[in-house]
Amino acid sequence: MLSDVNIVKIAVLVSGNGSNLQALIDAQIGGDIPKGKIVMVLSSCSDAYALVRAQNAGIETAVVQRKNFTQGSQFDNAILTVLRQSEAEVVVLAGFMSILGSDIIDEFQNRIINVHPSLIPSFCGKGCYGIKVHRDVINSGVKVTGATVHFVNEIPDGGKIILQKAVDVAEDDTPETLQSKVMSQAEWIILPKATAQLCEKIYDDKISNSN
Ligand code: GAR
Repeated sequence: MLSDVNIVKIAVLVSGNGSNLQALIDAQIGGDIPKGKIVMVLSSCSDAYALVRAQNAGIETAVVQRKNFTQGSQFDNAILTVLRQSEAEVVVLAGFMSILGSDIIDEFQNRIINVHPSLIPSFCGKGCYGIKVHRDVINSGVKVTGATVHFVNEIPDGGKIILQKAVDVAEDDTPETLQSKVMSQAEWIILPKATAQLCEKIYDDKISNSN
């Protein structure tokens, strides 16, 4: 597999625990992302546990922190430098808590995907992320939530939807129990699946363009 030059190189961007990164690593080890390979894990936090998960899996890591730059464009440039050096062709946002600027989005048109812990277009958009999403879901009284994987464009959580999976909200759910259910019943399933689908498409395009 490694000798296949067409295998699609994946960079995963993280900020925290990295359970979605782990789902991607496990899927790769299990052969469920046959046309892709994770070549880089970039974290926006130097103490993210996701970095340990990447190192344990033998994946190269980088840390790019927003606080080290005065301007957003400098932060974006630093991320772009890492992505270019790793020759990434697909960028997976797996719990990445910064918003990417237009330079990155333009360079990776239809090649950046994000997992969001709700059924978009509900409970999403600027400022709606992580545990806050599940708090809002419970406060609203809806009985079904879930997760979405979508392409990233300039609108936060506004890009084309790739996959969604629903999860029931129980009467006694707390934001924490709901978060854990949404992860295990939805996010960890649809993120590797969408990543595999995108890699397969890019791989097939490369093969047909080389013929
Ligand atoms: C996940 O629930 C992910 O969907 C969410 O942050 C969590 C990260 O967990 N992302 C967002 O809310 C982005 N809008 P992880 O670090 O364990 O994968």
